[in-house]
Amino acid sequence: MSYKDEIQADRLPLHVAIIMDGNGRWAKQRGNQRIFGHRNGVAAVRDTVEACAELGIGYLTLYAFSTENWSRPKMEIDALMTLLVQTIHKETPTLMKNNVKLNAIGNLSNLPSDVEKQLQSAITNTSGNNGMLLTLALSYSSRWEILEAISQIAREIEDGKLRSTEITCDVFNQHLSTANIPDPELLIRTSGEYRISNFLLWQIAYAELHFTNTLWPDFRRDDLYKAIIDFQKRERRFGKTSEQIINKN
Ligand code: IPE
Ligand code: IPE
Ligand code: MG
Repeated sequence: MSYKDEIQADRLPLHVAIIMDGNGRWAKQRGNQRIFGHRNGVAAVRDTVEACAELGIGYLTLYAFSTENWSRPKMEIDALMTLLVQTIHKETPTLMKNNVKLNAIGNLSNLPSDVEKQLQSAITNTSGNNGMLLTLALSYSSRWEILEAISQIAREIEDGKLRSTEITCDVFNQHLSTANIPDPELLIRTSGEYRISNFLLWQIAYAELHFTNTLWPDFRRDDLYKAIIDFQKRERRFGKTSEQIINKN
């Protein structure tokens, strides 16, 4: 029996988020430059996107470049940005074929203009697709996003459009860049690191976390299936007792 056959189709996570980590180490293990790892990570992205779309996952969010990643050597950043433009262009047919709609979150105005343009054009070209929503987190960090939301809320209060007593979880959610996207139910991090690195801190309040030692360029659909099988074995209690969950009350 293959891993895919072990997945219960009626209990899929609605939203899968992935911290794609380990490209640099993958390259180093092969005596290569870090960018070699980033280039080889593209096949992992393609396979994961296709596998998620085929399974019927509603939302897939990929952490591709963090706010903190801007502190890396210029050479690596430049190479990554070039790779991004090429990949978005080259992979748009894969998105079309799989009925995937592209979206992006993060401080996109910080991206080089050619990256931003390529991204916006792929978002426009896939906007008619109504299958999975693929969100790329680019120049993204959760603290940046939360501060942006707070600033916006403060402005609305100053302008008399909102009262402080009206701030609820729903109102706060609507001010995040993930407004209208349900919270991730499964968060995967590759490369054997056990941390969140400023990714979706608010949204993963009740996500199930899955860590794997696999380095991102080696990640393939079977690794995704294993993470989903692991997810389906968990009892999600949301603060209730196990008995309440079993008795559905
Ligand atoms: C993840 O791989 C990709 C990005 C953060 C852009 P890394 O580049 O962080 O690879 P490691 O963690 O150094 O191996
Ligand atoms: C997290 O990986 C960011 C992305 C995968 C885009 P990092 O490699 O930047 O995280 P740290 O620095 O090891 O926490
Ligand atoms: Mg890393």
